[in-house]
Amino acid sequence: MFSSHESLRIPPLTSRLPLTVQVDGEPVQAFAGETVATVLLAIGRRTFRHTENTHAPRGIFCGMGVCFDCLVTVDGLPDVRACVTPVQAGMVIDTRGGSDA
Ligand code: FES
Repeated sequence: MFSSHESLRIPPLTSRLPLTVQVDGEPVQAFAGETVATVLLAIGRRTFRHTENTHAPRGIFCGMGVCFDCLVTVDGLPDVRACVTPVQAGMVIDTRGGSDA
């Protein structure tokens, strides 16, 4: 677990139902109601992917599902927008893929 990064969360959210997801193969504690992006930011991730052609880092930009900079792979499905995807228990999140979307 990335427990050392728990301080990045807004304290009232920690009273929500805890659940576990995997991020790049590591178990991470999340909370019901959070988005995938929230979980990634809470563990200190600022880069969610790299573009395929130039390997430029991408992460949160608009935060509302418009820019597609936050694409990750979720449960094997590529190009999922992290900022508008709620976490679910057991979700497998992979930030190691690339996309030029
Ligand atoms: S940050 Fe823009 S679509 Fe997610």
